[in-house]
Amino acid sequence: FADSGVVALCSFVSPFSKQLIVIPSLLTRNDQHFHFSLGLSGAGKTSVSFELEAYLVSRGVPAYGLDGDNVRKGLNKNLGFSPEDREENIRRVAEVARLFADSGVVALCSFVSPFSKDREMARKIHKESDLPFFEVFVDTPLNVCESRDTKGLYKKAREGSIKGFTGVDQVYEKPELPDLVVKTVGCTVEETTLQVVELLEENRVIL
Ligand code: PPS
Ligand code: ADP
Ligand code: MG
Repeated sequence: FADSGVVALCSFVSPFSKQLIVIPSLLTRNDQHFHFSLGLSGAGKTSVSFELEAYLVSRGVPAYGLDGDNVRKGLNKNLGFSPEDREENIRRVAEVARLFADSGVVALCSFVSPFSKDREMARKIHKESDLPFFEVFVDTPLNVCESRDTKGLYKKAREGSIKGFTGVDQVYEKPELPDLVVKTVGCTVEETTLQVVELLEENRVIL
């Protein structure tokens, strides 16, 4: 939370210390909103999400990107990539995003999230709290993702040194009714991001 610019006030019994952690920083209030982008590894989720975060913050809209790369190093470092662990990953992310949205920060979540039922759970968590939720499918073909191989993981998955890799030896359930589908082939990160900006404008998240 502090990283997103919100003062995090944590009040827990915390029996082993007597600290109240208060990290002073800018506090701004905005429309509550949650944005969820999903797609294969290498599709462009992180690039678009971080470009969107920079776009929003530069216009005074507090926003924060939650991504496999940051969440799995901390909050979810005990989780792997089995279907059960992915479900728990998305559940925790959705709950954290709900708290972000409740604090007035636009939560931008970029996760592979390969299973429809987990995405439905994330949507439900927001619906129950009356929070807007937008599912954006970064629809990049597998062969393009694999040729990008930004982290060298497809190569490892094809060689068999990584098991359960989405699109290789674990399923990817394409979203049937996403709020937006964006393409990344033949357009720049900025152009793809602008399509998401338009979605937010149409829904009055950005005025
Ligand atoms: S999930 O399915 O939503 O729980 O996954 P997520 O938290 O987004 O994490 C995906 C990133 O972890 C790397 N990685 C893998 N992805 C898919 N399958 C397997 N087995 C795997 N192992 C590691 C990968 O870099 C993903 O990040 P992106 O940014 O998509 O490449
Ligand atoms: P993911 O987070 O889905 O694994 P990344 O954002 O890490 O994907 O990687 C996507 C790669 O594709 C980056 O190297 C990025 O520069 C490239 N790319 C090319 N065009 C686009 C686009 N229009 N949108 C997003 N990424 C793009
Ligand atoms: Mg990524």
